Amino acid sequence: MDKRFPSRFFLKGNKMENRIPTPGIQTDPDFSDAERAAVYRAMLTRRDTRGQFLPHAIPDDVLSRILMAAHHAPSVGFMQPWSFIIIRKDGTKRRVHDLFKTANEEAARMFDGEAREIYSRLKLEGIIESPVNICVTCDRDRAGPVVVGRTHIKSMDLYSSVCAVQNMWLAARAEGLGMGWVSIFSQAKLKKTLGIPNRVTPVAYLCLGQVEHLYSKPELEVAGWRPRLPIEDLISFERWGNGAANDEQARLVDRARAAQAVLNDDSTPACLFGGRRE
Ligand SMILES: Cc1cc2nc3c(=O)[nH]c(=O)nc-3n(C[C@H](O)[C@H](O)[C@H](O)COP(=O)(O)O)c2cc1C
Repeated sequence: MDKRFPSRFFLKGNKMENRIPTPGIQTDPDFSDAERAAVYRAMLTRRDTRGQFLPHAIPDDVLSRILMAAHHAPSVGFMQPWSFIIIRKDGTKRRVHDLFKTANEEAARMFDGEAREIYSRLKLEGIIESPVNICVTCDRDRAGPVVVGRTHIKSMDLYSSVCAVQNMWLAARAEGLGMGWVSIFSQAKLKKTLGIPNRVTPVAYLCLGQVEHLYSKPELEVAGWRPRLPIEDLISFERWGNGAANDEQARLVDRARAAQAVLNDDSTPACLFGGRRE
């Protein structure tokens, strides 16, 4: 046990009467090199999946682990605003796919010329082909009107549900599954189709399943839609837009740029730590 915390209680201001009960303290806080590399591997090799799904069922133990990963996401005020609608029936998938088709035709008309042509060729969902679809929602009223941490920025609950989605994406990758996020819907129609109450917002519609393969780079990048932006353009210091103004700041930008350059050639995590390709 950590000597600084002699009991299960955290001593606030060293006064026993102010003590706040805390749960146990982690006894194994450090990751081994292999565990650390595995976490980065999941992040660096996660892909949005659309056209590569195989129809095989997802075993319940795998699906339940992915849901549990979602349920361990951070949430504002520990609000846990998420719920998960599991969709396997063809009829439900087809109704949702119809909503996608309508919205996607509207979307194509928002682009002009060559961009419209490229857009029309993109496959942006795997609703029917994937064995399981999951709608992740956010109950905006789950913890009452005043929530710790959400007193001033109300959208924090939505961000919390997005954290759950990212946990699912990484867990799915670690389980060898692909996951794709579909967001081209009329939100009102999606709510109606899935019977989602008014106070609840659908945050993500996800397609999940085994895949033939995962691409090494984002499909939109390969299709020439958009490149990954240079990380040095996204870092500023102390104020928006302030570039590196001293050696310490310049060193950080250089290291980040170098890491991105290395990853462009070799997207395995070992290269991030100066190691060789596994
Ligand atoms: C909020 C959100 C919504 C998205 N919606 C869609 C979508 O409707 N259709 C689609 O094909 N991809 C969608 N994506 C996936 C992105 O296109 C994808 O993450 C991006 O191109 C980078 O590729 P990668 O995820 O494979 O790294 C969405 C991603 C996010 C985070």
